[in-house]
Amino acid sequence: MKTMKTSWTSKCYDVWAFFYDKTFGALVHKRHLAAMAHVRTKPGDVVLDLGVGTGMTLPEYPSNITVVGADLSAGMLAKAMDKKRENRLDHVLLVQANAMFPPLAERAFDHIMIAHTISVVSEPNKLLQWAERLVKPGGTIVLLNHFHAHNRVVAFFETLLNPVFLKIGWKSDLALEDCLEGTSLHVQYLFKTSWLDIWQIAVLSPPTEGPPEGQAEAVDGPACGPGASPALRLAGEASA
Ligand SMILES: C[S@@+](CC[C@H](N)C(=O)[O-])C[C@H]1O[C@@H](n2cnc3c(N)ncnc32)[C@H](O)[C@@H]1O
Repeated sequence: MKTMKTSWTSKCYDVWAFFYDKTFGALVHKRHLAAMAHVRTKPGDVVLDLGVGTGMTLPEYPSNITVVGADLSAGMLAKAMDKKRENRLDHVLLVQANAMFPPLAERAFDHIMIAHTISVVSEPNKLLQWAERLVKPGGTIVLLNHFHAHNRVVAFFETLLNPVFLKIGWKSDLALEDCLEGTSLHVQYLFKTSWLDIWQIAVLSPPTEGPPEGQAEAVDGPACGPGASPALRLAGEASA
């Protein structure tokens, strides 16, 4: 399966950062809002926005929760930091992190938002395996993305054009089923903002008791165990 390479992704989004909000971001912002309506928070919750990008979602979260926005690209995070400053979002923490090895504590988050990021990482199912480890039992993972079409003609063109899309920053032929491989996540429901929409919103939940210990160990990466801080083990706020 051809996917993005992390080193290229980081450079690519450092460039995207300059025009993201006025281009792709503007195109999808309505969908951000539709997806966020399904992140059902209560006061005191901690939400992780994985692949937060330029932080277009940040001003939309309620201020009675803590939001951790993580992203690989320093350029994208610098724009998110501007939004945090301009909107005085003191409840928002930003961290530069690779979602393939997130320096975050297990089961620290009530909800996780993953918008347009799963088709951008090098191992999409590993991203969801991590999300499953990071979310609390009973929490939700809201996944917003374009997934491989079931219509054969559209799917053919998505596969054909994938090498071009990979050069500009995302994978166009990613199937939701492949993303879920190796996780125990349950698809609560899927929806689109209109039947013509090519983006889908999937609301996922971990099994009631969370992943079995053995399965959690199967994911490569730093140990995020009982020794981690009760809330987050952050690499620190992005200096950008
Ligand atoms: C298409 S943008 C989406 C940004 C934002 N979520 C939105 O919907 O506007 C994808 C983001 O994922 C980030 N990203 C890609 N690979 C990543 C990784 N391995 N870890 C963390 N973030 C990553 C990129 O830097 C970029 O900011």
